[in-house]
Formats: sequence, C-alpha cells, structure tokens
Amino acid sequence: MLDELIFIALPYFAIALAVVVTPYRYISNRLEWSTFSTQFIERKTLFWGSIPWHYGVVILLIGHLIGFLFPSTIQAILSNLSMLLTLESIALTLGLLALIGSFILLMRRALSNLESSIVDYILLFLIFFQAVTGVYIAVFNRWGMEWYLHTAVPWFYSLLTFSPNISYVSALPLVFKLHVIGAFLILAFLPFTKLVHVLFLPIGFVKDPPILYRWVKRGD
Ligand code: HEM
Repeated sequence: MLDELIFIALPYFAIALAVVVTPYRYISNRLEWSTFSTQFIERKTLFWGSIPWHYGVVILLIGHLIGFLFPSTIQAILSNLSMLLTLESIALTLGLLALIGSFILLMRRALSNLESSIVDYILLFLIFFQAVTGVYIAVFNRWGMEWYLHTAVPWFYSLLTFSPNISYVSALPLVFKLHVIGAFLILAFLPFTKLVHVLFLPIGFVKDPPILYRWVKRGD
C-alpha cells in the first residue's frame, strides 16, 4: 500500500499539480514567482551556495535524464568497467558539490535575517534532502547508474504509459524510496516556488531587461 502511494499516487499527483498550476500562475501573475532579492544583504554566501548547487544538480539531472532517454546506449557505455568507475566518480563529485551548496543555502537562510517564507524553507530543505539521499545511494548502494537503468527507468516508462508497474522498484532500499519521494515533492512544490525558473532557464532571461537596484539614502 505504501509503495503504491510512493510510486503511483505521489508521482501522478505531483505531475498533475505541476502541469495545472504552472500555466495558471504564469497567466495570473508571473511577477509573484520570484522571492525578494537578497543580493545586497550578502553576496558571498549566496555565491558559495548557489554556484556549487547549480553546477552539481544541473549536470546530474541531465545525467538522470540521459539514462532515462537512452538506456541501451548508456548500458553499453557502462559495461566498460573503467567508464563506469569514471562516470560514478564524476557523479559523486557533482553530488558532493550539490550537497555542500544546498547546505550553505539552507544555513544562509536560517542564520541571516533574510525575508523568508515557509515555502523558501521547505524548498531549500527538500533540495538538501535530495542531495543527501542521492549521495547516500551513490556511496552505500553502489553502481546506482547501472541498476537505475533496470529499475527506475522501466518504472518511469510504465508511469508515462499509464500502466504503472511498481515491481521494478518496490524491492529497492528505503533510501531510494526517500529519494523518489523527495523528487516528486520538489515537482509538486515547483509551481509554488521560485524553482519554477527552471522551466525558463536560461533562454527567457536573455531577453529580459536587466533589473536595476538602487540604494536610497535618507534625504535624497
Ligand atoms: C524519480 C526521480 C529520481 C530517481 C529515480 C533518482 C535516482 C537516483 C539514483 C539511482 C542515484 C544514484 C546514482 C549513482 O549511484 O551514481 C541518484 C543520485 C543523485 N540524485 Fe537522483 N533520482 C531522481 C531524482 C532526482 C532529483 C529531482 C534530484 C535533484 C533535485 C536528484 C539529485 C540527485 C543527486 C544530487 C544524486 C547524487 C549523485 C551522486 O553522488 O552520484 N535526483 N539519483
């Protein structure tokens, strides 16, 4: 029953929310999507959190996607042992970057007096949690890249073809289930948070006019 909730109900619910709420918010008020700028309050911690997090997670998510789109090609590549070791090491390095970056972002918000909403905290906690479970899998359930192709990928295809088959994933360890729960919670929260910018990155920003911030001195 719990597995059905994790591997069927939650994914469909999250996908439906993302598909319905995102266009609604786009049409109703796109300006509300962003949080307040924190750039002037402090830039250094933002830099050390944001840059490793983005580099780590963007490349890893492309990796997750490539495994899903081209499973047999990736399988052929990974059958070469040195290739498997190299790619796993690169993934682990990126995972650690994402982990450190998301931790810094979470601490920065918790320890400074930034204007924060509960949604900011939930999102930051979720992305940190996602990095923790991902790195844990990579370290303690070795060769995730390999078994991902024979478990998560066919399960995900079964979801997309509306014939969910959880037998591919139900026997996997708890930490994998937590990683999947985290992924779909992020997706469910996506339209309500500033993370929605992933849907526009980076093309839209190129033609946006620059935002001008000014200091206002008393008496000016
Ligand atoms: C249902 C969706 C997902 C599945 C089935 C999945 C599966 C996996 C697996 C099997 C690994 C281990 C790879 C290895 O051993 O090298 C992994 C690692 C990781 N995943 Fe996911 N993932 C999903 C979604 C996400 C999302 C949405 C994020 C980030 C927002 C994410 C972030 C990570 C990170 C940071 C790692 C660590 C990489 C490493 O250290 O090797 N995953 N994931």
